[in-house]
Amino acid sequence: MIETVRKHIIEVQAFSSTNKEEIENFRIKYLGKKGLLNDFFAEFKNVPNEQKKEFGQVINTLKNAAQEKVDSLKEAIESSTETKGVYGDLSRPGEVIPLGSRHPISIVKNKIIDIFLRIGFNVSEGPEIEDDWHNFTALNLPEYHPARDMQDTFFIQTNPDVLLRTHTSSVQVRYMENNKPPIRTISPGRVYRNEAISARSHCFFHQVEGLYVDKGVSFADLKQTLQYFTTEMFGKSKIRLRPSYFPFTEPSAEVDVYWGLETEADYRITKGTGWLEIGGCGMVDPNVLKNCGIDPEEYSGFAFGVGIDRIAMLLHQIPDIRMFSENDIRFLEQFKSVL
Ligand code: PHE
Repeated sequence: MIETVRKHIIEVQAFSSTNKEEIENFRIKYLGKKGLLNDFFAEFKNVPNEQKKEFGQVINTLKNAAQEKVDSLKEAIESSTETKGVYGDLSRPGEVIPLGSRHPISIVKNKIIDIFLRIGFNVSEGPEIEDDWHNFTALNLPEYHPARDMQDTFFIQTNPDVLLRTHTSSVQVRYMENNKPPIRTISPGRVYRNEAISARSHCFFHQVEGLYVDKGVSFADLKQTLQYFTTEMFGKSKIRLRPSYFPFTEPSAEVDVYWGLETEADYRITKGTGWLEIGGCGMVDPNVLKNCGIDPEEYSGFAFGVGIDRIAMLLHQIPDIRMFSENDIRFLEQFKSVL
């Protein structure tokens, strides 16, 4: 009897299969209700007393061996289907991978940067919390200059020397202080003005200002650069420079692009004139160059500034500037396809 059980142990240990049905039959043969093991256990009472101990041990060994065999063969089948799973079920529908999107302000900013990088400008950045010198005084706006009122300033605490920059011209001052001409740089960034918040204006918005300082830079260079920019940015090459005033440029001008009057939207955007104002510009005032350690007898330069938010609103038909800062995912998601 004991010999029969031992033979079964050897048989069990030698058994191997990758077929589920075969393994199941094997399990039933040994471990099933009417399986061999139950037969052997039933036999136990007929075994002579002196053999009981040894018989008990061999049927237990057989039981464990059969159970282990079944478990390990099943596991082997499962893990082999897992490795097949590397290729997956090719008929399964794909999983949706949620894609992020760039903010429309970043999209437009990057586009402007890209346009100016192509003609040799670099990108400069500076702090949003500025001092009076870089935001005002160096830019020909001494204390009590009435033009300071043009830019309603947020001061930090009660110290009038610490403020949130009202334009990124402050970055240009820093750049001129630290670099010698030739200078060709654009300064994109967030600026702050204490203005009532509405659909058209916000207390913070974004600008890109440009600066070119070298020997013999003229107003014609400024005009050509702006024309290149509007052509690349909007596909519109007709521009108009209207005389204006900025303390840091002389002469100064407002830049208008001819948008056209073809559609109803054109009428609305240009208030029926066909012209759209996109920013300010001018020749850098000699005083500003001097303040920044550049000799105005030797060098001249031009500067310009455009508002990113307005351009983004225009290009993407965004009706309200507040949408940029609300973080409404339904709004932001619409820019997924734009780089
Ligand atoms: N700094 C001006 C503004 O914020 C824009 C500007 C820049 C005008 C450069 C002229 C030259 O309104």
